[in-house]
Amino acid sequence: MPAARAAVEEFLGGNFARFDGKVAEAMAYAVKGGKGLRGFLVIESARVNGVALEGAVAVAAAIECIHAYSLVHDDLPCMDDDDLRRGQPTVHRKWDEATAVLAGDALQALAFELVADSGLPAEATVDLIRNLARASGIEGMVGGQAKDIAAETAETPLTLDEIIDLQAGKTGALITWSASAGAWMAGENPSFLEDYGDALGLAFQIWDDVLDVEGDAALVGKAVGKDADAGKATFVSLLGLDEAKRRAEQLVTEACDALSIYGDDGECLRQAARFVISRQN
Ligand code: IPE
Ligand code: IPE
Ligand code: MG
Ligand code: MG
Ligand code: MG
Repeated sequence: MPAARAAVEEFLGGNFARFDGKVAEAMAYAVKGGKGLRGFLVIESARVNGVALEGAVAVAAAIECIHAYSLVHDDLPCMDDDDLRRGQPTVHRKWDEATAVLAGDALQALAFELVADSGLPAEATVDLIRNLARASGIEGMVGGQAKDIAAETAETPLTLDEIIDLQAGKTGALITWSASAGAWMAGENPSFLEDYGDALGLAFQIWDDVLDVEGDAALVGKAVGKDADAGKATFVSLLGLDEAKRRAEQLVTEACDALSIYGDDGECLRQAARFVISRQN
């Protein structure tokens, strides 16, 4: 994961050098310091499909831009109202709300520009762009965020199926897109990587919810205990910690099993799945 992260950071650093002004500074700030999981998934899924790093890195950078935008907006006072992200002040705290809204908007637009300019074959580029639009929008991340916000004030707690549906949008859609991107790049069947991504995405969000209960804010790099305070429906609120962890483990096993056609080549992706439910941030 560190090598993929360094390649993405270098690529984005080169890109941000073209821009200046406050919003551009906020954009560069927002993409720094994360784990880089989604970019790693793009690069690894490309590698197992025979696509070289040079072709994949722009696409990996694009998903990290979309993810960073989602976090900048997620932290705004009208959403989760958070002061800390990746151990640093959130964008609206360091600058102001207008800058945070605009930096998020511009990161989203930049992501599509990066995929369009990736130099991949035209058909693969269009597939990646169409699927990224879907995974980011009302049928994906934005739709999941909307359900998450609505759940805070819902009269009855969400059912398990409703939580699974919410999290598949909020977190799962971008992770599944990342995990299957390499198959789209190579014009291969994405279904195995999609199954891997679906299981991994859900395990990832369960673990985010676990960290919100059990995590140490200094290690996690963001406020903890917020889901319970907001009365937010999560796997942990519904199932309790032990059962939530058990499900996350089961999902990681499912994710690893979905990679069997890649044989030993899938080992880095399997390791990433195991990392997701052992991480402390
Ligand atoms: C945090 O994602 C937000 C969720 C979707 C749960 P990450 O935990 O991947 O955030 P960074 O990129 O490492 O900061
Ligand atoms: C955020 O979910 C998911 C997206 C930004 C799409 P959370 O609100 O649970 O993420 P954290 O806990 O603030 O990172
Ligand atoms: Mg949120
Ligand atoms: Mg949040
Ligand atoms: Mg959370």
